[in-house]
Amino acid sequence: MKYSYVSHLYCPKCSSTYSTKDQQQLCTCGSPLLVAYDMEGIKKNLTPDHLKDRKPDLWRYHELLPVEDESNVVSLGEGMTPLVHLPRLGDAMSLENLYIKDEGLVPTGSFKARGAAVGVSKAKELGVEALAMPTNGNAGAAWALYAARAGIRSTIVMPEDAPEITRNEVAISGADLYLVNGLISDAGKIVGSAVKDQELYDVSTLKEPYRIEGKKTMGLEIAEQFGFTMPDVILYPTGGGVGLIGIHKALKELRTLGWVKGDLPRLVAVQASGCAPIVKAWEAGERESEFWHDSETKAFGINVPKALGDFLVLDALYETDGCAIAIDDTEMLREQKHVANLEGNFVCPEGAAAFAAARRLRENGWLAEDEKVVVLNTGAGIKYPDTVDIDPIMLEKGDVLPK
Ligand SMILES: Cc1ncc(COP(=O)(O)O)c(C=O)c1O
Ligand SMILES: [Zn+2]
Repeated sequence: MKYSYVSHLYCPKCSSTYSTKDQQQLCTCGSPLLVAYDMEGIKKNLTPDHLKDRKPDLWRYHELLPVEDESNVVSLGEGMTPLVHLPRLGDAMSLENLYIKDEGLVPTGSFKARGAAVGVSKAKELGVEALAMPTNGNAGAAWALYAARAGIRSTIVMPEDAPEITRNEVAISGADLYLVNGLISDAGKIVGSAVKDQELYDVSTLKEPYRIEGKKTMGLEIAEQFGFTMPDVILYPTGGGVGLIGIHKALKELRTLGWVKGDLPRLVAVQASGCAPIVKAWEAGERESEFWHDSETKAFGINVPKALGDFLVLDALYETDGCAIAIDDTEMLREQKHVANLEGNFVCPEGAAAFAAARRLRENGWLAEDEKVVVLNTGAGIKYPDTVDIDPIMLEKGDVLPK
């Protein structure tokens, strides 16, 4: 049996196809490329039962991933994160079946490890020696560390305001780290000219086709963890939108295989009020978004003024009857406290935004009380120590605790 049933790359805009044997970036028409598989081959050779004896990491789905030779897999044990019922928070929101898919528990502390594991592994398979990327922090941290494990050089450019810990993760991996006084879009322009001048493989969001495949495994896991049934709704904090596009792709692939049946979950793109281009486009019924000027939010990972794959995110929302919603920072940080108070989970601000969105969508009736709702917490709260303001009482030696 083959390790991977990858067949080719295709363009979702103009339908051109490309080989997976060469290093590819965007389609000649400018669109991101997506990965296709020999689904008939997988159908014949794989059933959900085969998964039972496999390791609990994302490589358990290797037939549906693009790495062809197992020896190229670069892994730190990523994947199969907990899917946990949240009864107390659910009670407070009037949602009986509220779940967290907790991506704070992967190597490097965010779901970006999934994209990096698969992206770096495929880069290794294709002979890449040096890569470069702009990042809001977490992706750069993940790619730099996975590249270090693969023996690939990396150059990472991030806004100077990105979470400080992500700088340290990049620096300690030995990558070349640059800070820019600007946004991820400014970092992207700098990387764009560097890749041309210095022959670096450009692994910017969606400029290589394989990161989506890693993030797709969140969708595969959610389905498997629910016994190959689908929840009603999945809420996802959306910046570049790769996770949402990946989850949508995963569930469609499982349906093609006949492993899940029925309607796909309604997908919800959650953004910050200070940077909500997808929400604006969805509200206007548009198929693409416009650049969001002067964007600002404490949920740094979703501060993306214009996503290259915006049309794929919007397609996923329209196709699944989903929606897009913006949450302001005050509401987000309030929800972050609720999640920790009631469920003991210190979620990242991006994840907190998705919980606040669930609360609002229940309040306005978009979510029904008994629906099965999954919120993606995309990273660990401990990566963002500055989002919590505390004022503890200072004691002197020998003091007694106030009553
Ligand atoms: C914690 C966190 N959540 C969400 C996102 C948004 O990810 P995506 O590009 O998949 O929309 C990011 C991206 O940096 C992130 O770091
Ligand atoms: Zn094209």
